[in-house]
Amino acid sequence: MLEVARLSVSYGQHRALDGVALHVRRGEVLAVLGANGAGKSTLLKALAGLVRPAPGARIRLGGADIAAMEPHRVVEAGLTLVPEGRGLFGELTVRENLALGAHPRRARAGEAARLDQVLSLFPRLTERMGQVVRTMSGGEQQMVAVGRALMSAPEILLLDEPSLGLSPLMCGELFRALGRIRSTGVGVLLVEQNAKRSLGIADRGILLENGRVVGEGEAGALAADPAVRRAYLGIDAA
Ligand SMILES: Nc1ncnc2c1ncn2[C@@H]1O[C@H](COP(=O)(O)OP(=O)(O)O)[C@@H](O)[C@H]1O
Ligand SMILES: [Mg+2]
Repeated sequence: MLEVARLSVSYGQHRALDGVALHVRRGEVLAVLGANGAGKSTLLKALAGLVRPAPGARIRLGGADIAAMEPHRVVEAGLTLVPEGRGLFGELTVRENLALGAHPRRARAGEAARLDQVLSLFPRLTERMGQVVRTMSGGEQQMVAVGRALMSAPEILLLDEPSLGLSPLMCGELFRALGRIRSTGVGVLLVEQNAKRSLGIADRGILLENGRVVGEGEAGALAADPAVRRAYLGIDAA
């Protein structure tokens, strides 16, 4: 379980996150909804150790304090980010990118079994293992990125706008895979511009506005809430 409290982040004078609290349990998808600039990417980066929280933040993973850890140590502790834009090595093959995901010590023992799991989640990668990643479609690359993250044997997976620029078909495949990932006991923190889709798969959601959590609830209840529908689903609920 990931537990976060009093998480604030500033860029110079600009406070991008202000006292955020949330938790993600094993086998649960938490959706983070928020407009452009709300602080969603900053939240994921802070959890992954890529930006430093202000003093006093609590970030605990399975009871361990990860708030001050370097990014590679956060991965060792069991939390892996699929960043916006995917962060793949475009000149390397699918196989090589996936192998890099298994670099953490925690991931080495089960590497072969985990590769089988990734290929069963994303069967279309099986015949692409030797392909150079930059020659693949956006959707296929996103599958490689999620697959690489899974190779690190995460307990908690963070996804920053995974469906950005994907075709509806690829989007569907990706979200089905996220459902199967959850069923293996991984906790998923999902930042997604497509609020309808993310609430469709999530168990719970939080609403982020100007760096603050301004609402939270069960995903179905949020999707039915007129204010949420107006603000995040682009639906005129009047
Ligand atoms: N590296 C940075 N330096 C300064 N300001 C930043 C930086 N990254 C993000 N911000 C600002 O912090 C706020 C939150 O950004 P971000 O977390 O990227 O939001 P979101 O992902 O929800 O669009 C925005 O106002 C953005 O301009
Ligand atoms: Mg963002």
